[in-house]
Amino acid sequence: VSITRSLVYDSLGKPLGVSKIARDITHIRAQQNLLAAKNAADAANRELESFSYSVAHDLRAPLRSIDGFSQTLLEDYAEKLDADGQKSLSFIRESAQHMARLIDDMLALSRVSRSDLHRRSVDLSALARAAVSRLQGGDPERNVGVVIQEGLLGEGDPRLLAVAFDNLFGNAWKFTAKRDGARVEFGCTSQDSVQAYFVRDNGAGFDMAFSDKLFGAFQRLHAVAEFDGTGVGLATVKRIVSRHGGRVWAEGRVNHGATFFFTLYEEDPLA
Ligand SMILES: Nc1ncnc2c1ncn2[C@@H]1O[C@H](COP(=O)(O)OP(=O)(O)OP(=O)(O)O)[C@@H](O)[C@H]1O
Ligand SMILES: [Mg+2]
Repeated sequence: VSITRSLVYDSLGKPLGVSKIARDITHIRAQQNLLAAKNAADAANRELESFSYSVAHDLRAPLRSIDGFSQTLLEDYAEKLDADGQKSLSFIRESAQHMARLIDDMLALSRVSRSDLHRRSVDLSALARAAVSRLQGGDPERNVGVVIQEGLLGEGDPRLLAVAFDNLFGNAWKFTAKRDGARVEFGCTSQDSVQAYFVRDNGAGFDMAFSDKLFGAFQRLHAVAEFDGTGVGLATVKRIVSRHGGRVWAEGRVNHGATFFFTLYEEDPLA
């Protein structure tokens, strides 16, 4: 508590008494401490982010060399290696290529956190259509029923939001691959007076008991043999959404599809 004492005078300048103004400033101190802690945490995060970015970046060159020399061995020394030796080298190459993909995904994830954010009004329905048509273009023989609610606008960075949409629709597309009558949907719903957008599919689904794992980097609930991937897409979505002052969460049931919800600028929707 801070106490301010001051003399109080009448209009002729004669002292009338002492006024005591007591003000509880503990909550202000607490706010200042919280802000200082948050700034320190932000700085530490930025440092960690740029550290992992440069480590990931520098790992690429030696990895390329492992892959390249293994290839040279396979091609130029094939007759000196027996079948087992060739198989081992092939495994080395596969692992190097897998690791290269993980590194590229890490770099992409890191870029999402580091890039500037330009906030404007975005036609989310158009972003959804664009994401689906990219997927259909790369996979023309797939027959997926697509339902996109029209005219859904949101605030955000169009480039970053497009990355989030590519990942959400990419997942919906991928996890419905084994479903006849595959369906993918984009829409908007009100939950507890909060407006949430959603991407829904009727694909493989997942076990809600592990739903907290979904958004962690390199965490997957399906085997690569069943559905390909490195497990970085939803971590990317989470970073993008939280940079937009929003949340992302999921509902699903094994073999009954999944719905991914997200909000944008939940605290100041009209700002
Ligand atoms: N639409 C979905 N239906 C069922 N499971 C999903 C869906 N989307 C994500 N998941 C589960 O969450 C995991 C993490 O998703 P995420 O997008 O991060 O990784 P991925 O798709 O496996 O790989 P990547 O996106 O890096 O190519 C997936 O492996 C899957 O187990
Ligand atoms: Mg994915």
